[in-house]
Amino acid sequence: MKKITWTESLSVGIDLIDDQHKTWITHFNKAVDALASHHHPEQIIKTLEFLVDYTGTHFATEEKHMKASKYPYMAEHLGKHQELSETLTNLVTDFEEEGVTDDLSDYINTFLNNWLIDHIKTIDTKFATWTRDNGYSIVEA
Ligand code: FEO
Repeated sequence: MKKITWTESLSVGIDLIDDQHKTWITHFNKAVDALASHHHPEQIIKTLEFLVDYTGTHFATEEKHMKASKYPYMAEHLGKHQELSETLTNLVTDFEEEGVTDDLSDYINTFLNNWLIDHIKTIDTKFATWTRDNGYSIVEA
């Protein structure tokens, strides 16, 4: 299964956000490892729940700073966060009901992997660039 390696190409140029993205990717990779190794279902659920929880934490950080900075494209960004949050919740539910299926593995490998990379490189980078251009500093969670 396909894990993600954080490289400078995924940097948005803001340490707090980059650090959270690194942790986010670590949780994603742990879920991939657990699924690929066919760990005990409870262990897999735990990794997926850590991923869901951390996704919520990370999104909350970005959303707090979007509101504080009055980011004009916040609705677009929040929509993407909502989309992924719902998808992850459904993924955990599907796993609890059906276990590791080819669909779930494919889903992790393709959509989720691509979504994370695409989101960081486009939507998050757009926000980071806007904050720099508008003199807003993201320095705390
Ligand atoms: Fe880094 Fe918009 O999630």
